[in-house]
Amino acid sequence: MKTKRKRGVLAINGGKPVMAKPLPAVHIMDKEEIAAVSRVIRGGPLSGFAGVHNDRFFGGKEVRVFEAEFAKKFKIKHAVSFNSATTALHGAIVALGIGPGDEVIVPPYTMSASATAVLMNGAVPIFADIDERTFCIDPKSVEKRITKYTKAIMAVNLLGQGADFAKLLPLAKKHNLAIIEDNAQSPDATWRGKPLGTVCDIGVFSLNVHKAIQTGEGGILVTNNPTYALRAQLCRNHGEAVVDDMHEYDSGPIFGSNYRMTEVVAAMARVQLRRLDFLTKKRVALANRLTKALAKIPGLTPPFVHPDNTHVIHRYAIRVDEKKLGFSRDQLVEAMAAEGFSMSRGYVKPIYLLRLFQERKAFNRTGFPFEKNTYYNGSPDYSKGNCPVVERMFEKEFTFTDVCQYPYTAREVDLFVAAMKKVIAHKDELS
Ligand SMILES: Cc1ncc(COP(=O)(O)O)c(C=O)c1O
Repeated sequence: MKTKRKRGVLAINGGKPVMAKPLPAVHIMDKEEIAAVSRVIRGGPLSGFAGVHNDRFFGGKEVRVFEAEFAKKFKIKHAVSFNSATTALHGAIVALGIGPGDEVIVPPYTMSASATAVLMNGAVPIFADIDERTFCIDPKSVEKRITKYTKAIMAVNLLGQGADFAKLLPLAKKHNLAIIEDNAQSPDATWRGKPLGTVCDIGVFSLNVHKAIQTGEGGILVTNNPTYALRAQLCRNHGEAVVDDMHEYDSGPIFGSNYRMTEVVAAMARVQLRRLDFLTKKRVALANRLTKALAKIPGLTPPFVHPDNTHVIHRYAIRVDEKKLGFSRDQLVEAMAAEGFSMSRGYVKPIYLLRLFQERKAFNRTGFPFEKNTYYNGSPDYSKGNCPVVERMFEKEFTFTDVCQYPYTAREVDLFVAAMKKVIAHKDELS
């Protein structure tokens, strides 16, 4: 026999959850995407690429139109599609000519690909700490990590807003470094009015299933530099087989891969791109509503928006002050999950604490590229304590919710706040 769940008792202790049914998965595919995909499937071809030096080197019609539309939307000269942001990040590293003997400074609070893209070309990721307000890379920490090997900074625009480019751009200029903007999470956000992803040398966007607009998988690299664009295209499409015939390119051999986008994905991406502004507005409106409610709760800090930035709230981050709140972040996350709202426990583990870096095994047992070799005599530090702000966020302070994602509405946001208030009102009952 079912026992009746009590109101006013925390769901974690057997009470009735605030949100009885789990939130439905976010899936924004409509008739237009279906029509676009059907058009390509009916008419073909499914891919217009060939790894040869002719017109097919640049991909099929849908790919090219998508790239042109993307470049127009973000006011940039070149957009090069890829089959993921991970491969586009690798394309960025190749485009900049970064390889063995080079270091790239990356934040440790990001998806692992921001760092592994560097490793993929035999260069060494060096981790700098983050700003505790924006969770993006901290320029002061970056400056301390610059060595004679440093070639670039990977500035990740995390969770919907930009890194501190007012400080990063002059720093890069002073030390002759390139900046790659990993903008996988922040399309449509701006820095001083400029679209994020277009502020520095190269920007990268993602179309994976968790992103603001998505095609399951997919990525785009953008740049105003024609040489970077061409090198990215060579990396995307078997440059080794193409470049001998490409006499307009005179920078020597290049080692490419198959990072090409299909026509089906490009057709879907074109429709999704048209939805971007609508989805951004919806998310930001719900986030503003949530911020208004949470700002009154001691111990919870809603997203900080740097005055140079607009924030598109890819994910709604909350910082927890355990002392002020009277219980721990993990207790909050557990109690909220029982009330029907899943929240993250600290986003990702700081990347340098992953086994790959702890054991320094990227290419079998060689120790390459971390250990001393013909090109490199640096000393990357992957020890615990290396980036104390990130570790504190991960262990104690950081959480996020996806309750502001479209198609959720003010109702779900209000229920989220109600659940939060209920948990806080019953904090003495948390174990
Ligand atoms: C900041 C960041 N960079 C890179 C990636 C990699 O994107 P993709 O899955 O398209 O390869 C992600 C994906 O989660 C991301 O969030």
